[in-house]
Amino acid sequence: MRHLKFDFNNMFSSNVGKDHGVRENELKNATKVIQKTHKHLKKIINSPFERIALGLEWTQLPYQNKGTLEQIQVLGDEIAKRFENVVFLGIGGSYLGLKAAQDALAPCYYNEFSPLRNKRPRIYFEGNNLDAQTLSVLIKNLEPKKTFVVVISKSGETTETKAAFQIVESWLKKHVGKSYGRQVVAITDPRSGSLRKKVNAAHSRDALSFRSLPLLKGVGGRFSEFNMGLLHLAIIGVDIKEVLAGARAMLRRCSSPSVYENPAYMYALLQTILYIKKRKSIAILMPFSEKLKSTADWYVQLLAESLGKKYGRRIETDSSGREIWKKANIVNLGRTPISARGTNDLHSIQQNNIEGENNKTVTFVRVASFARDLRTPKAGDFLSDRSYCKLLNLAHEATEWALSREKRPNCTIIMPQVNPYHWGELIFFFEIATAFEGELLEVNAFDQPGVESYKNYMYYKLRRPGMPKEIAREIKDNPLVKKTRFII
Ligand code: PA5
Repeated sequence: MRHLKFDFNNMFSSNVGKDHGVRENELKNATKVIQKTHKHLKKIINSPFERIALGLEWTQLPYQNKGTLEQIQVLGDEIAKRFENVVFLGIGGSYLGLKAAQDALAPCYYNEFSPLRNKRPRIYFEGNNLDAQTLSVLIKNLEPKKTFVVVISKSGETTETKAAFQIVESWLKKHVGKSYGRQVVAITDPRSGSLRKKVNAAHSRDALSFRSLPLLKGVGGRFSEFNMGLLHLAIIGVDIKEVLAGARAMLRRCSSPSVYENPAYMYALLQTILYIKKRKSIAILMPFSEKLKSTADWYVQLLAESLGKKYGRRIETDSSGREIWKKANIVNLGRTPISARGTNDLHSIQQNNIEGENNKTVTFVRVASFARDLRTPKAGDFLSDRSYCKLLNLAHEATEWALSREKRPNCTIIMPQVNPYHWGELIFFFEIATAFEGELLEVNAFDQPGVESYKNYMYYKLRRPGMPKEIAREIKDNPLVKKTRFII
């Protein structure tokens, strides 16, 4: 198998019944909508100005120029050669893609066993929470002089990343001395934000201090793995060109307006029909692969932040005919994503998938060929002399069967292997599907206004300067109401 495949048999009424599946003629009926949606996406992607302004510049990431990639590779190799540990600080889109790549593309138990690392550094992720339990243990045990730090924040302002970096920076400064900045790379906006200010100041004193990588404009955090995640890939020795080649291949397949040739469109369309017409509002992603669990976690952010929206989208055009997206009416849309993994979660969430409310679709990822296998010993029972990989794939088939028997719509993405090329395909499959789903739902898939309110509340309480008066007033006038009798 040369490409990732999408098997959507069990999304149809023929397999899961007319009350829970899509009828084939519903696809035919959607032809006009598909064409209109495709045309609109294509128009924005083909216009550099709109692409950047509206947040679709990620579609260009697979075509990054060789020079940029080589620069990143050189830096990655230099860090890998000189340091035993690399700590990545970041949250949301500045973390989940890297973690997904680490688990999918680095050998399992990479940090634990040095031969698996092939002389490359151990990797740690921090700054993705405000929980001191992990960070405090890490800096107590890592050797500062042997540790490199990559701080990633597009805005340069995110509380979690900022707080973690302040702690790590003072730890480095204390133990490494004046030149500690040479052990730091910052990936942030080229112009704005307090992290950028810090980078520029450190840089002007010492060109090797706080080196930084460019972040492209118009690439939102959750769509940015192939921008901010590339240094991480270079450090752990993953072939970046292969990852991008896979993404390009998927992009090419998904440039077709025909849903039967375009797996991402087909996925988005079927999910949308089932969501709108059959109320399948829960989206479970269950790879049958330990290595892909973090990719499912990454998808949770992609779907939730892109499509979970209060307002619909209204398109206006300016005097030069360029689109401006505005908020329209309140719609409160968006499927709720849940990440799971087979077979582990067959012993937990699967009970609800099969017998709970029939309000979900389950998407599996099946790996056709694994890098390693084990055989069970010849013990003489039904498990005797079996291939582990075949057992795993049989468990997937059994789960498909069990769900379909109970009229639970499900579909499967088949990955030929978990390798850089096919992982690149998988990431782009989901990104294009999400963009298309956003178009079908007529929401802005590229902003995340909902995550601002908790941030504002924290900024207000922490007295961060520059808070807009009306937001401060809203928080002040609407405090959390806690009645002691409701706390027992
Ligand atoms: O998708 C997004 O844009 C967000 O999830 C961000 O990645 C997240 O909030 C972190 O932001 P930043 O990279 O600015 O620190």
